[in-house]
Amino acid sequence: MASGDTIRFLLNGETVEHRPGAAHETLLDFLRLNRRLTGTKEGCAEGDCGACTVLIGRLSRGELVYETVNACIRFLASVHGCHVVTIEHLRGADGGPHPVQQAMVAHHGAQCGFCTPGIVMSLYGLLMQNPAPTDIDIDRALQGNLCRCTGYAPIARAAKAAGAEMTKDDPLASERAAVTEALAGMQTDETLSVETPEGTIHIPANADGLADILADNPDATIVAGATDVGLWVTKFMRDISPVVFIGHLDDLKMIEETGDAITFGAGVSYTDAAPVLARRIPALTELWDRIGGTQIRNMGTIGGNIANGSPIGDTPPPFIALGAELTLRKGGDRRTIPLESFFIDYGKQDRSPGEFVESITVPVPAEGTHLAAYKISKRFDEDISALLGAFALALAGDGTVEDIRIAFGGMAATPKRASSVEDALRGKPWTEASVMAALSAFETDFTPISDMRASADYRMRSAKNLLRRLWHETEGTPVRIDRGVA
Ligand SMILES: Cc1cc2nc3c(=O)[nH]c(=O)nc-3n(C[C@H](O)[C@H](O)[C@H](O)COP(=O)(O)OP(=O)(O)OC[C@H]3O[C@@H](n4cnc5c(N)ncnc54)[C@H](O)[C@@H]3O)c2cc1C
Ligand code: FES
Ligand code: FES
Repeated sequence: MASGDTIRFLLNGETVEHRPGAAHETLLDFLRLNRRLTGTKEGCAEGDCGACTVLIGRLSRGELVYETVNACIRFLASVHGCHVVTIEHLRGADGGPHPVQQAMVAHHGAQCGFCTPGIVMSLYGLLMQNPAPTDIDIDRALQGNLCRCTGYAPIARAAKAAGAEMTKDDPLASERAAVTEALAGMQTDETLSVETPEGTIHIPANADGLADILADNPDATIVAGATDVGLWVTKFMRDISPVVFIGHLDDLKMIEETGDAITFGAGVSYTDAAPVLARRIPALTELWDRIGGTQIRNMGTIGGNIANGSPIGDTPPPFIALGAELTLRKGGDRRTIPLESFFIDYGKQDRSPGEFVESITVPVPAEGTHLAAYKISKRFDEDISALLGAFALALAGDGTVEDIRIAFGGMAATPKRASSVEDALRGKPWTEASVMAALSAFETDFTPISDMRASADYRMRSAKNLLRRLWHETEGTPVRIDRGVA
């Protein structure tokens, strides 16, 4: 273990050695208050508006990868060993504005300008990977950027025009080799523990180092993508010390595929999981694209979404419907449990102090299984679910329900199976009459609450209608949601 006072990272073109004042110091505060890089704005301070978007470059198994993140909820110490790129670093080939900035001017993509640096960074992040984006690619890249005055059509036109102007002299393209070498020089195989006046920050080098830290500090706050923990700080002023950052650990980012399952390391981000799911479980693609916005999907991890124990996290219902299993690790010991049994009660999970989520194994649905995951939220993009219903339906050759697994988020204190509804359908013919007869079983399974996202009545009606929607979709008939069904 290495003890030290400082973390190290690249900030635009310079190497920074910095002693964090506290584990909860955010990247945004550092940029604006310490470095006076005020191009990066603070809007909401909760990951929603995108005004604080910056790019983070990191080595992923030796390969330099840049992703957009929300600096407002990214903790400074978690950029140890990374390249932080702010709007101030962008420039064109002649040293003037970058092609994305020029296109935003030419296509009238800004009015008050407050959102503009964040939008430019999001578009730059997109165009670096894909200089010829479709309208859908552009929409997806901007899901996490709110503009309240310009409207998105001129911004989308700017994105298309800028893509054609991206060159190999682009700043990050031309600096790639030097940045890769500099970041490689910052990696170590030892845990770094930094003492601050407000507690210790641990940055392990691998999962074994994480296990050791948690053995000595079983109550340390584990921070992966910080898309939940960041808000504990910016909204609730919670003290998170001592803290252990795990978002950079390659051995928690592994994805292993077999013929009938995918195992995701707990640290796999939504972005990294997306192509694998699109290929193996395409029924989850639409849901996946509606988790947060691009910045949140770059930061947020599957392990964090499960470990937080939220009743409205988007991954547990479909994964429970598929029969996923969770592997937890404490020291060198591992245990594997059905995902659904991890959620005991509101705020209570089957995880002991010092234990961490190591991986989740998700069965790939057998051929002929109909999988559906329906997210209901107030806004289509960048919103948390009011409820989410996931269904895995297998029909026998004679059209009866051989098996059905149904799991809901937002209907109880935990993500939960609709066991009574399942029992009411199993062995029955898959007909509208069977579905209608099973609806009342929802009331045995769930007693939803009313809150700011939805009323109890809305939740119950929607859950029933989602089962009806499943029937309509499997029968190939158009979906008509009957608001009168109670
Ligand atoms: C703007 C915004 C939009 C969002 N939209 C959605 C959405 O559409 N759908 C949705 O489901 N969620 C959404 N979220 C919530 C959040 O993005 C997810 O829950 C995310 O998956 C959490 O992962 P993380 O890596 O960021 O977790 P963190 O914030 O790092 O951690 C979350 C919790 O899990 C614990 N933890 C993390 N990793 C481990 C581990 N390996 N072992 C044990 N404990 C661990 C942490 O200690 C903490 O208690 C949104 C959040 C924001 C800010
Ligand atoms: S300030 Fe709004 S997302 Fe960061
Ligand atoms: S230009 Fe004003 S918020 Fe986008």
